[in-house]
Amino acid sequence: MTVRDIKSVLDKVYGSEIPDLVDLEYLLALEDEQQMESLFEYADQVRSRFVGDEILLRGLIEFSNFCRNTCFYCGLNKYNRELQRYRLDSSQIMSAVNDIAAAGIKTVVLQSGEDGDLDAYWLKDLIERIKMDFDVAVTLSVGERSYEDYKLWKQAGADRYLLKIETTDKALYDSIHTQMSFENRIECSRNLKALGYQNGSGCLVGLKGQTIRSLAKDILFFKKEGFDMLGIGLFIPHEMTPLKNEPLGNIKLALKVIAVTRIVTKDTHIPATTAIGSVGKGDARLLALKAGANVLMPNFTPQPYKRLYEIYPGKRCVNEQSGECVHCIETMAKTINRSICYSRGDSKKNSHAGVLHN
Ligand code: SAM
Ligand code: FES
Repeated sequence: MTVRDIKSVLDKVYGSEIPDLVDLEYLLALEDEQQMESLFEYADQVRSRFVGDEILLRGLIEFSNFCRNTCFYCGLNKYNRELQRYRLDSSQIMSAVNDIAAAGIKTVVLQSGEDGDLDAYWLKDLIERIKMDFDVAVTLSVGERSYEDYKLWKQAGADRYLLKIETTDKALYDSIHTQMSFENRIECSRNLKALGYQNGSGCLVGLKGQTIRSLAKDILFFKKEGFDMLGIGLFIPHEMTPLKNEPLGNIKLALKVIAVTRIVTKDTHIPATTAIGSVGKGDARLLALKAGANVLMPNFTPQPYKRLYEIYPGKRCVNEQSGECVHCIETMAKTINRSICYSRGDSKKNSHAGVLHN
């Protein structure tokens, strides 16, 4: 197929409310460098048109690495007994939030493993304190919880939630999350949307047994559910997990998933994920930013905890002090003629038009 033929597929996918699965599969299967470049350039233009040229920042605080789950790919899984576990207290978290606000960043992401001892009322109080003391949006990413907990945190002022589906292929999902329920994950995600959170999902590219078709279906799922944010990760094998002998995910494929997700979902916020920036030479987050991504997540987890949040090995920047990333991010943006945006960077979706700033 020529470059012109690709352009017609790209135009068709871009112009469809719900694109054809075969067209998404075709784009994800591209291997020729020039053809992939056409895909990335197209996605870059869609990104510019729908979410602009500025890169949004989210300050990340990984506040606990305790986890009751057994995700086969994740270094925090409960069977990893080698990992030293930690849980930050409120004052340590408030200090990290202060660092984020001092850097001019207006979104705080509170992430943890699925910590069975996380008290819903403790987190509610923390959200209220953050919202009282700082002019920031709060994103939560603490896994599957009850509708009541999600409601409590929303009422306390939380703005957004990240809960990736990881894969929409139920058989694959069940095979790598043996003690979890695919149906419950979908239900949690829908509860978050119903409660008015700016809702985030995403997938992990490179899982054992994952096919191009299942990734194409992931993208259709993203479109149909109308997510506000979509994180596309790259599988990196971790020594202390059942998938330790599986190969590293294909970075080109992850970039193609980002590009097609951008073209299909248009105005979502898509981070250049740390996993993508942690493999290969240089910083592949730059490639992600040129293939449709528009968000970066500098890490403000204080040392020595930052290096203990080891979901996969070789995670970039783990030996830096909290917040050091902001400077290199500024430099990075300049190399691709983009600038950093220091606003909240709320959802662009219409459904949130009336509830963006609370
Ligand atoms: N507990 C929360 C949850 O389950 O949503 C958030 C924490 S979890 C560590 C955050 C993300 O790490 C997951 O969504 C997953 O995609 C990613 N992750 C875990 N293990 C990984 C690996 N080996 N390679 C790449 N990404 C990984
Ligand atoms: Fe729980 Fe990864 S297994 S956060």
